[in-house]
Amino acid sequence: MVTLNVNGTDRTFDGDPDMPLLWYLRDELALTGTKYGCGLGLCGACTVHVDGEAVRACQTPLSALAGRRVVTIEGLSADGTHPVQRAWRELNVAQCGYCQAGQIMQAAALLAKTPSPDDEAIDAAMAGNLCRCGTYQRIRAAIRAAAGGRS
Ligand code: FES
Ligand code: FES
Repeated sequence: MVTLNVNGTDRTFDGDPDMPLLWYLRDELALTGTKYGCGLGLCGACTVHVDGEAVRACQTPLSALAGRRVVTIEGLSADGTHPVQRAWRELNVAQCGYCQAGQIMQAAALLAKTPSPDDEAIDAAMAGNLCRCGTYQRIRAAIRAAAGGRS
């Protein structure tokens, strides 16, 4: 049995401890904002926070989450007003949107640790989050805007 906290709510999981967090979130908790892209840790679509760190939910088994605090895109803010979410809207970052929850979670984890990242730090942090629509320039601009009002 694994006890963990998801978006502020304590949860108990007594299924297969090898089950990836991604499926627990989507299939058991109906938190479908976290997306399945590759299932191999290569695209970042499934990025969530575990104890404040950006992790790939598709590569994180429930067994690794005992006592840990998971935050998904649904829990990043109560009403979509996290600075990263505001900047994303202001700069119309999303195109199809599929990758964007993962992008936002990755960016929010970066800014929590590095409030004013330079372009090199932004690129390094975001390198593992792929976007088939090629929104990379707007992603960078939105991170700069969220960091300090620059775009
Ligand atoms: S679905 Fe997890 S990294 Fe692609
Ligand atoms: S907005 Fe379409 S994959 Fe990124």
